Amino acid sequence: MSLSGNESRDGFSSRFGIICATAGSAIGLGNIWRFPYIVGESGGGAFLLIYLAFILLLGIPVMLSEFTIGRRGQRNALGSFKRLAPRKPWYLVGVMGIVAAFMILAFYSTIAGWTLEYVSKALTNAFAGKSPEEINLMFVNFHTGTFWPLLWQFAFMAMTAWIILSGVQKGIEKYAKVLMPFLVVLLVIMALRAITLPGSGEGLSFLFRPNFAAIDSGVVLAALGQAFFSLSIGMGTLITYGSYIRKENNLGNISVEVSLADTLIAILAGVAIFPAVFAFGLDPADGPGLIFTVLPNIFQQMPGGYFFAIVFFVLLTIAALTSSISILEVVVAYMTEELKLSRRKATIMAAMAAAFVGVFCTLSFGLLQDVTISGLHVFGLLDFTASNLLLPLGGLLIVLFVGWYLSSSVVRDEISSGGMFKARFFAVLMFVLKFIAPVAIAIVLFDSLGII
Ligand code: PFF
Repeated sequence: MSLSGNESRDGFSSRFGIICATAGSAIGLGNIWRFPYIVGESGGGAFLLIYLAFILLLGIPVMLSEFTIGRRGQRNALGSFKRLAPRKPWYLVGVMGIVAAFMILAFYSTIAGWTLEYVSKALTNAFAGKSPEEINLMFVNFHTGTFWPLLWQFAFMAMTAWIILSGVQKGIEKYAKVLMPFLVVLLVIMALRAITLPGSGEGLSFLFRPNFAAIDSGVVLAALGQAFFSLSIGMGTLITYGSYIRKENNLGNISVEVSLADTLIAILAGVAIFPAVFAFGLDPADGPGLIFTVLPNIFQQMPGGYFFAIVFFVLLTIAALTSSISILEVVVAYMTEELKLSRRKATIMAAMAAAFVGVFCTLSFGLLQDVTISGLHVFGLLDFTASNLLLPLGGLLIVLFVGWYLSSSVVRDEISSGGMFKARFFAVLMFVLKFIAPVAIAIVLFDSLGII
């Protein structure tokens, strides 16, 4: 049995399709919702610098490692480890990834549900003529509620499941291909509006002028978690997608291109948000509601704002969908290949289980807001555990696997597609995978946990 052939698995039909689907997974609420609010809570510019360093030094190598494992293993996140390391405990990395996928899907759908509510608010012109205080109140009233936040969350989960049911190629590629470029154009327009608002300069210096006094080990961990979350790495999503990539495609180039696009979009979102935060006298450390209380103010100040608001929230929903399907796909690929369930059964079961956990995330802003564990409510707890602990730990084990367990000739063979491409920088890559990345991740992770 060949480990590297494509057998009869469903695969991406073109290089463009892979880039779109992988970028579609990476680009989502993580860039536009999570990045700005984490930057805001972490004091701005210095966080950004650390974040960029992590993307370059850790993000790209982990992404390439995941692709390598997936394309070599030709299986889901767990199955690929089993196949490449038979009878060894490495498959536990896959198990951890599946647990992380559940947690992320649960809280991700909460925020995607908020986005759907904002599509409906935009359609009914609900922001028109409202002051920043009224816009804030509108958000508070909505997200502390029960019925609507849950309804939208279920709606989003159902959409995710429906796309997954239509299969890898047709489902994922079709939706990812067309729409993301529009989102970028829109963000550019919004950023231009934001930086031309009176009083916006302070926002730009918040984002770009590093203030190292704001840095502590918690902030460094947050930057690591954000880098992993945003690139969709550390839990086997890109192992799963890697298994759908054909041999003719250059894994290194894809990793660099996707990471670059993801980072540019996050920065673009920052440039749209922070100038507006300061121009409207809002608080950058406002937390998970930041974009929902800031962006409607920008739309209000834009010619054609009614139209822009609708298009923006619709596109954000689609960006969230191309990410959420990649998360659900991790679980579904595992359930179909390892547990031999039908795709239909697997999808429905996984989506329902995630929706169930998601209820607690959604309600943790309202009904369950007093239920906390070490100061975090359910939403915060799942986000912190998955993004800041499980993803970096997964990434650590993934680079160790590729750096130390796989033979370097296997890694070279996969990265060069059997000699089809020059594996430039291969020696540098192996050095990073063996030493730099594991040590850096371990230091950040264990230091912030107080272990070292
Ligand atoms: N990267 C996605 C985003 O930025 O919205 C979220 C995500 C997708 C995280 C897939 C993890 C993952 F495996």
